[in-house]
Amino acid sequence: MPKKSEKPKKTPQLLRGFKDILPDEQPYWDYVRRSVDAVASTFSFQRIDLPYLEDASLFIRSVGKETDIVEKEMYVFEDKSGETVALRPEGTAGVVRAYIEHGMLNRPQPVKLYYIGPFFRYDRPQAGRYRQFYQFGFEVLGDAHPVIDAQLMMMAYTMFADMGLPVSLQVNSLGSPEARKDYIKALHDYFKSRKNSLPEEDALRLQANPLRLLDSKHPDTQALVQEAPQIVDYLDEESNQHFVKVLEHLDELDIPYVLNPRLVRGLDYYSRTAFEIWPLVSDLPEVPADNSSADAGEATAVADATEKPSAQSALGGGGRYDYLVEELGGQPTSAMGFAIGIERLINELKKRNISIPTLPGPDIFVAQLGDEARKKSLKVFGQLRSAGFRVAESFSKNGLKPQMEQAHKLAVKFTVIIGQKELMDHTILIRDMESGIQETFDAEKMIPELQKRLSKHGVKQNNGSASPAVSVPEQTDADQQKLL
Ligand code: HAM
Repeated sequence: MPKKSEKPKKTPQLLRGFKDILPDEQPYWDYVRRSVDAVASTFSFQRIDLPYLEDASLFIRSVGKETDIVEKEMYVFEDKSGETVALRPEGTAGVVRAYIEHGMLNRPQPVKLYYIGPFFRYDRPQAGRYRQFYQFGFEVLGDAHPVIDAQLMMMAYTMFADMGLPVSLQVNSLGSPEARKDYIKALHDYFKSRKNSLPEEDALRLQANPLRLLDSKHPDTQALVQEAPQIVDYLDEESNQHFVKVLEHLDELDIPYVLNPRLVRGLDYYSRTAFEIWPLVSDLPEVPADNSSADAGEATAVADATEKPSAQSALGGGGRYDYLVEELGGQPTSAMGFAIGIERLINELKKRNISIPTLPGPDIFVAQLGDEARKKSLKVFGQLRSAGFRVAESFSKNGLKPQMEQAHKLAVKFTVIIGQKELMDHTILIRDMESGIQETFDAEKMIPELQKRLSKHGVKQNNGSASPAVSVPEQTDADQQKLL
């Protein structure tokens, strides 16, 4: 107890820009994780989990010294050995480091990897912008073919469409590093001759990286951007041909896209194809849509006529990074990938009232009366789990009433009851929760009897040991571990 004179200690609170993901939110996260795993398995991507902390130079050399991410937003510090380390602001650099470090070049190419987890950027917190946020990303290393670009864009686009989210695919080509250099010079000359019309912050940005002016929010800069040189006019022939092929693939796939010559992305490692997925935002005041009964599987990704693509809060983005592996000390290796922000994706699902498919709850509740019965019921619980039933319990409760209340709340179909009498007789009681009828069975008959009854309800058990209990819903356990 603190002495009266001592000031009470402040309760520690969340840091600004960080958030807890509480149990109520978890169904959305589970849904996203399941969707990501399903897409990964369909397209044969293998999961990779990388450290959250890396040598800071990895990001400086890949994302770029003069980008906002490295210059302003990276969490960098010296560790106890004096090494300069950084919390990962993005996933591609780590994947490339791992590709080189583990000699993945010697595996059959392309190497297709995916990841999901937290990333850190000391950004100004606002709606859809956090200092710790989650991304999932897909990377294909060791293949230069334009079909890879189209396939990755198709994956990103259809993930949103399958969830019932209308989005806009914005596409551009950044050309070869030489073409990019020429373009940056042209952009620099253009803005330099109009320097007096630039706001101070953008005049400074012009020195460091003229590309950053293209996504300036300042109206004066935006007005100048309208007339600024476009990268398409600086593309080298090979990049041009590559881009034409990518677009042909997209046309063949009937995937709508917007050619956006101003899309340059905020990371330096891109060459050739670059793309972003933008949400559609209405100019009109928001009216909550009443499509709450829609299942995500049935929902259609149709945009409202008043909605327009919005560059703010892009849902995801990616592109080719054909020079990054070499840049970081590996052999020349073409690569392409994309990442999607999970908080922003979930916000879209919520904004559009898209109800997500939920995991099945428990079918059986185990209730007990008395200490001896409690011991027995713990064993019965284990037997039911091993037989593949979804089981719930509330072992610490004493009376039957609170346990039955819990069973009703969970909407189980049957409750197995074990009391003093059942213990003595080696029997159990099965209560049908709908009719309220209770019948006694030999303990050995419990499993076949429950199987028979549940199959009448069309419920199938999992076959065997990894069967889920209720307090740990399907998938959550493993996925949670992957995330942490
Ligand atoms: P990025 O565009 O920097 O790309 O980030 C991808 C997505 O992460 C964004 O579109 C957004 O949804 C989400 N995101 C970024 N910052 C925040 C934030 N502060 N708060 C919430 N969400 C955020 C990359 O990170 C590249 N590594 C993508 C890539 C993969 N390129 C090739 N492969």
